[in-house]
Amino acid sequence: MDRKIYITRRLPDEIVAKLSKYFLVEMWEKEDTPVPRSILEEKVKEVDGLFCLLTEAIDRELLDQAKNLKVISNMAVGYNNIDINYATQKGIMVTNTPGVLTETTADLTFSLLMATSRRLLEADQFLRQGKWKTWSPFLLTGQDVFGSTLGIIGLGQIGKAVARRAKGFNMEVLYYNRSRKFDAEQELGIHYTEFEDILRQSDFLCILVPFTKDTENLISRKQFSLMKDNAVLVNTSRGGVVNEDELYNALVNGDIWAAGLDVFNQEPTSIDHPLISLNNVITLPHIGSASYGTRMRMAYLNTENLIRSLAGDKPVHLVNEELSN
Ligand code: GLV
Repeated sequence: MDRKIYITRRLPDEIVAKLSKYFLVEMWEKEDTPVPRSILEEKVKEVDGLFCLLTEAIDRELLDQAKNLKVISNMAVGYNNIDINYATQKGIMVTNTPGVLTETTADLTFSLLMATSRRLLEADQFLRQGKWKTWSPFLLTGQDVFGSTLGIIGLGQIGKAVARRAKGFNMEVLYYNRSRKFDAEQELGIHYTEFEDILRQSDFLCILVPFTKDTENLISRKQFSLMKDNAVLVNTSRGGVVNEDELYNALVNGDIWAAGLDVFNQEPTSIDHPLISLNNVITLPHIGSASYGTRMRMAYLNTENLIRSLAGDKPVHLVNEELSN
């Protein structure tokens, strides 16, 4: 019971109670405020395990302070906040929480697709502002979802779950991925399409790739110029995959029709962000996996990863697999 862990955000009591059965637990207690960097730098010097969130930059400088750290458990599927190569070099395991959030994130992706295409937020504002005077033939007309073409960029678990939803709307589903997924093509009736072709052919484009050096600014000026002018872009992965300045230009110039964004380059994003000034953009504060049940499942999975790693067992989801032996 001499192992120490640090939790970087206040968590529900039942999670803390479970971790306390195994470890000496310290936690940043201030409700919904990220731990200040200076405190994290102090804490990381002492602990064996870190329970962290995507709001913490676990970079080289921080890792250099860690003397005993054996595992970083990130309560997220994405781990672009962590310098994985450096952690691996130092023999520190990194774990994440895929799987449990797949369906919830696919639900949010599809909700954003529908809300954007049918202008739900604009319509709600219109009514609340007392502008609704009569039923009108072309009032707040949007884009049809049923029967249209969906392009999924990044066919991981969430991409497949979005494809299943799209099939229920009789959409033609195309996907682009680094490697072809023949099983998914068979199972879901979806079609592999080269990158530029998927941009040209899709009415809806869902961005579901992880954020890496290779995917940074994957969607920028050239890519927008290839898209249909009725295209709706939905991004629920990471903000950095889409060049926000070029997205703004594309929306203002009518190169694409609308965008639904759950993620931004800088989070939390400022309300002065130019994209927020546009009516054809729906913005959400990174809530892809935010159902209560799923967030609890993520917290429990992160707990399990931490417990197993520090017991010398293989965690449920190890990111740097090379450390598994
Ligand atoms: C959320 O964005 C996650 O990566 O889980």
